[in-house]
Amino acid sequence: MRLANASALVMLPATGLAAACGTAYSGDEINGTLLRSIVLDMGTDAANVTGAEYDQYFKQGSALKGVEAVIAASQFYINLWAIPGSETAFKNVSQCMSDGYLVNQVPWLYYNTTTAAWWGGYEAETEADSYDAAALSVVTNIVAGLEVRFWDTNGDGYTDLIDADYLEGVTVDTVTENANGTYSVYRGNIDVADKTSWEGTIFDADLFSGAGPAISASNFDTDIGSGDVALFWYGNKGWAMKRAQEVVGLFVNGADHTNYDIGGVLYDDAMRFSRDNLFISNRPGEFTDAQKFFKFTNDSAAGLNVTLWLVPVTNTTEHGAPVGMTSDGNSRTFLAKAVAQAQAQLASVTVSSNGANVPSTQEWATQSNYTQLDNAIARANLSLALANSSSFLMDYQTYVLYQTLNGSSDDIGAEFAGFSFTGFDEQLGTA
Ligand SMILES: *[C@@H]1O[C@H](CO)[C@@H](O)[C@H](O)[C@H]1NC(C)=O
Ligand SMILES: *[C@@H]1O[C@H](CO)[C@@H](O)[C@H](O)[C@H]1NC(C)=O
Ligand SMILES: *[C@@H]1O[C@H](CO)[C@@H](O)[C@H](O)[C@H]1NC(C)=O
Ligand SMILES: *[C@@H]1O[C@H](CO)[C@@H](O)[C@H](O)[C@H]1NC(C)=O
Ligand SMILES: *[C@@H]1O[C@H](CO)[C@@H](O)[C@H](O)[C@H]1NC(C)=O
Ligand SMILES: *[C@@H]1O[C@H](CO)[C@@H](O)[C@H](O)[C@H]1NC(C)=O
Ligand SMILES: *[C@@H]1O[C@H](CO)[C@@H](O)[C@H](O)[C@H]1NC(C)=O
Ligand SMILES: *[C@@H]1O[C@H](CO)[C@@H](O)[C@H](O)[C@H]1NC(C)=O
Ligand SMILES: *[C@@H]1O[C@H](CO)[C@@H](O)[C@H](O)[C@H]1NC(C)=O
Ligand SMILES: *[C@@H]1O[C@H](CO)[C@@H](O)[C@H](O)[C@H]1NC(C)=O
Ligand SMILES: *[C@@H]1O[C@H](CO)[C@@H](O)[C@H](O)[C@H]1NC(C)=O
Ligand SMILES: *[C@@H]1O[C@H](CO)[C@@H](O)[C@H](O)[C@H]1NC(C)=O
Repeated sequence: MRLANASALVMLPATGLAAACGTAYSGDEINGTLLRSIVLDMGTDAANVTGAEYDQYFKQGSALKGVEAVIAASQFYINLWAIPGSETAFKNVSQCMSDGYLVNQVPWLYYNTTTAAWWGGYEAETEADSYDAAALSVVTNIVAGLEVRFWDTNGDGYTDLIDADYLEGVTVDTVTENANGTYSVYRGNIDVADKTSWEGTIFDADLFSGAGPAISASNFDTDIGSGDVALFWYGNKGWAMKRAQEVVGLFVNGADHTNYDIGGVLYDDAMRFSRDNLFISNRPGEFTDAQKFFKFTNDSAAGLNVTLWLVPVTNTTEHGAPVGMTSDGNSRTFLAKAVAQAQAQLASVTVSSNGANVPSTQEWATQSNYTQLDNAIARANLSLALANSSSFLMDYQTYVLYQTLNGSSDDIGAEFAGFSFTGFDEQLGTA
């Protein structure tokens, strides 16, 4: 997909943005010849633009030396913001010294004046020996599944400018066009009132928990609608958002944190790609776990498609990071099927404090374990009963039913987010 009317973006004066560390690219598109676009290594934590396979694109004959030279010339851009070329240039700018070089408003490169130490790498988590090493570690730690482009702007056939994307995902519950012409996206805040104490964190970030940043019309893709997954970033004209690329089809198979097979095409996962503004239940791994638990995958007879949302990339031979998964118009049917399975499980169980008076062929559960599942089903039923329940809410209820039945320990994301269900199936006793 694309930014709406990308070729017609209105130029804002540089003064339209807060003072920042690093120079914003002045145009809308890089003025040069695209030599190569690459999607950083899928399935790995750290991707690498300095790899030997890219030596051919640099006049130095080495991607490492070439990338160092591009950084030194202040021509390495992330989201069209140049990384300062040198320690001197960095220390010369007060915002660099106070805030650091920011990617989506989060520091990735900063100087600790107390310890006189440079920090770089993913979100400035790594201490480096020098400014140059810290800056290099920023560009070699952009996460997998995002695109980096090599440009020749002086016509010599080699790379002298690099621009990299750093996009993050968000679920879109509602889009509001504000009175002043900007757009706001609300990601939804499902079920918070009913959220019970043993459930974990639904989101890992709060940028869109309220109205979110106001996005200028020229930076907003008006194809974005309710129920979508979108990508946001802080570009040279401020916050921007575009719709993710949707792949609709039968969910054949998947493996949490590994890969997802939609309609016979396998999409590798991208470690560390930010899904912090997606409901936990719509992140690919967790969505997969719930679908597999209820045996919804590869059920071609049911004809219930899902959507895998990807980072769009320009090179059609490659795929971007899987951002999220949704069941859209099928979310209600999936939830009704999950409720039926859970209700049948509940109905097959006898309540008992110790199983003493329960026949040996009969499974039993304590009242509190029984009530926990009964409550989860009742909440799912309530979502089904309301005509205005979002697909995200219903996907979430399906996820919570799966957690209640199967427990949290087999689900990497659930454990990480603090979900701590034991699992009803695990709690059953036989006399
Ligand atoms: C693009 O670069 C060329 C060559 O450097 C220059 O002549 C031209 O004016 C530039 N165009 C824009 C829109 O900056
Ligand atoms: C597109 O990707 C293929 C395979 O990775 C690569 O060989 C080709 O050079 C890429 N094209 C561009 C324009 O980057
Ligand atoms: C990137 O590639 C360079 C050159 O091949 C290598 O020295 C370096 O260790 C790699 N870095 C990462 C983070 O993979
Ligand atoms: C330092 O900043 C001033 C203006 O703020 C600029 O004129 C000068 O060129 C900068 N020096 C370096 C080395 O970047
Ligand atoms: C700088 O380092 C000191 C000592 O380790 C630490 O207490 C402080 O929080 C650091 N400053 C920043 C801005 O991270
Ligand atoms: C436009 O309106 C939104 C929503 O009321 C507000 O958050 C934003 O600050 C306004 N932007 C400008 C440039 O006035
Ligand atoms: C499911 O998706 C496939 C692939 O896009 C499509 O051919 C098929 O018509 C879809 N099925 C339904 C029931 O929508
Ligand atoms: C999916 O189902 C088809 C038959 O409909 C079967 O041939 C295929 O092996 C199944 N794939 C997986 C991964 O279970
Ligand atoms: C479920 O049952 C087990 C064993 O009786 C008990 O230890 C646990 O506290 C119960 N859990 C809940 C939520 O009641
Ligand atoms: C949920 O709804 C189903 C279907 O209407 C019903 O049979 C079941 O008793 C309900 N369960 C709970 C716990 O509310
Ligand atoms: C959905 O409908 C119910 C009852 O009709 C109402 O109370 C609730 O506010 C509505 N929710 C949303 C998000 O519109
Ligand atoms: C969860 O489901 C998996 C696969 O069905 C099973 O192997 C595992 O034992 C279940 N865990 C619990 C706690 O029920």
